[in-house]
Amino acid sequence: MQNFTSIVITGASSGIGEALALDYAAPGIALALTGRDAARLEAVAAACRTKGATVHADTVDVTDRTALGDWLTKFDAAHPVDLIIANAGISIDKDNSSLNDFSVARKTFDVNVDGVFNTVEPLISRMIARKRGQIAVVSSLAGYIGLPYSAAYSASKAAVRVWGESIRYVLRRNGIGVSVICPGFVTSRITANSPFKMPFMMTAERASHIIRTGLARNKARIAFPLPTKAAVWFGTVLPGGWTAKLLGA
Ligand SMILES: NC(=O)c1ccc[n+]([C@@H]2O[C@H](COP(=O)([O-])OP(=O)(O)OC[C@H]3O[C@@H](n4cnc5c(N)ncnc54)[C@H](OP(=O)(O)O)[C@@H]3O)[C@@H](O)[C@H]2O)c1
Repeated sequence: MQNFTSIVITGASSGIGEALALDYAAPGIALALTGRDAARLEAVAAACRTKGATVHADTVDVTDRTALGDWLTKFDAAHPVDLIIANAGISIDKDNSSLNDFSVARKTFDVNVDGVFNTVEPLISRMIARKRGQIAVVSSLAGYIGLPYSAAYSASKAAVRVWGESIRYVLRRNGIGVSVICPGFVTSRITANSPFKMPFMMTAERASHIIRTGLARNKARIAFPLPTKAAVWFGTVLPGGWTAKLLGA
């Protein structure tokens, strides 16, 4: 079991990132938290400080490669990072708007894919030099299968899932762990007002507990909950026509 003491969480101003920040916050823990909404981010930072953590919180956009890189390396110099949680993400094509306006698909990839690269890149050589650390890439169970909605979102999550799985094998030689996190539906701003059914929804606090336990064990995949995971697995192995029926597509 690993204990982390210097943790970066992108997208910590809300939902799963907020729950993770509060979960990890404790005396002796340094947290670097980003988001875009200054008021919500500061409220999370204040709650984490109340729990005894040292907190660096700034509204850095994960698509701003230079700003994020500078911010991360500054934090790493003061608190050598042993856990990166690349969590910030958006889901803006639930209504399939990315087919009418491809800028929606590009924006989705900017945040959900480039944003993950921008988070990991500045710290990876530092972690390799230290021969320790854990990288968590937040994907989704939606990244396993094409759904009749959210095409760009699912594709972006598939991209980071496969990337994370692959770099795990490579970075293991350098003493670095990589976990791919694939939640089902979790209560958060992303799932608020979704135009489709969201079975087996869980709280962000419960999701955080599952993620934290999996990261401490350097699990390759942290995918949950089991019924959604099983449904997705069936969808990937069944003939296409059966999968369409399963999805009601
Ligand atoms: N909720 C689910 O059912 C579910 C399922 C599978 C995977 N996920 C993934 O879990 C992650 C967290 O999502 P969530 O459910 O907690 O949703 P959320 O409540 O909307 O949180 C998303 C977080 O990402 C931040 N963010 C978005 N764009 C950003 C940008 N360009 N730069 C910096 N921060 C940015 C948001 O900041 P602001 O709010 O300050 O803008 C917020 O803190 C996402 O990657 C999501 O795809 C969620």
